[in-house]
Amino acid sequence: MTRLSSNHLLGLKNLTAEDVQLIFETADNFKAVLNRPIKKVPSLRDITIANVFFENSTRTKISFELAEKRLSADVVNFSSSSSSVSKGETLIDTVNNILSMKVDMVVMRHPAPGAALFLSKNVDAQIINAGDGTHEHPTQALLDAYSIREKLGSLEGKKVVIVGDILHSRVALSNIYCLQKLGAHVAVCGPPTLIPKHIAALGVQVFYKLQDALDWCDVANMLRIQMERQETKYFPSLREYSMQYGLTMEHINKLSKEITVMHPGPINRGVEISSEVADSEQSIILNQVENGVAIRMAVLYLLAGQKEG
Ligand code: CP
Repeated sequence: MTRLSSNHLLGLKNLTAEDVQLIFETADNFKAVLNRPIKKVPSLRDITIANVFFENSTRTKISFELAEKRLSADVVNFSSSSSSVSKGETLIDTVNNILSMKVDMVVMRHPAPGAALFLSKNVDAQIINAGDGTHEHPTQALLDAYSIREKLGSLEGKKVVIVGDILHSRVALSNIYCLQKLGAHVAVCGPPTLIPKHIAALGVQVFYKLQDALDWCDVANMLRIQMERQETKYFPSLREYSMQYGLTMEHINKLSKEITVMHPGPINRGVEISSEVADSEQSIILNQVENGVAIRMAVLYLLAGQKEG
């Protein structure tokens, strides 16, 4: 297979396992390029990409921009805080104005769940979702699964627990879809107030005690508490959350096996993960960030190749 089943990347729900494998194989080639002294290929030199960010980002924005530049694409960056959105311009008008300047693809982060799908149905360009509210963050899940594959060889039969604020997390949902497609067993762990009521319908196991989840898993993916998406209090205080669900060396030392520790970032040291664990040999947090560039190069390259299709 040399083509993805979709002309956009809106989420992991509707991608096939074959799509994910194709992205991984393509990323393997780009990872080799990124390890060369000259980290650039001419693949997208006739393509212009707009990075349209309506929400803050460090990793995703820089990673997409680097991926685009490594592929020799022309790049423009849009940030809502310095744009005419504050003057009342709609999302469709904003993007259509950018597209009229001969832009081919749009990478968009937006606070509204479904914004990427909405845009794909209303403008004439390929859309890549860089995170839509609490819904999906497909390239994060792809780079997470790719990093587990790199560390453990395969996803098949591996047990991955996602710990923390599952309710507000687009990373959790995309990870669940992606990991299950690749044959992994997925669980979530957190306070009952931060676990969606019907999550078991997605085929995931639920733990409420961190040590039980760690005893079960091969990989623990620690999530940040997303204060910016919480309109009410879901637990008494961050200190209490941290005492119940913050991963420390004390938890790790109780295990009779080695686990891999992940985090999508940004990390809050001393809240969901201690500095000692974040910086330990078991942590692949910076490998995830490194792999993000190769994964995003793969996604951009594959989508650009099927532009007319
Ligand atoms: N993981 C992630 O999406 O980080 P940013 O918000 O910094 O892009």
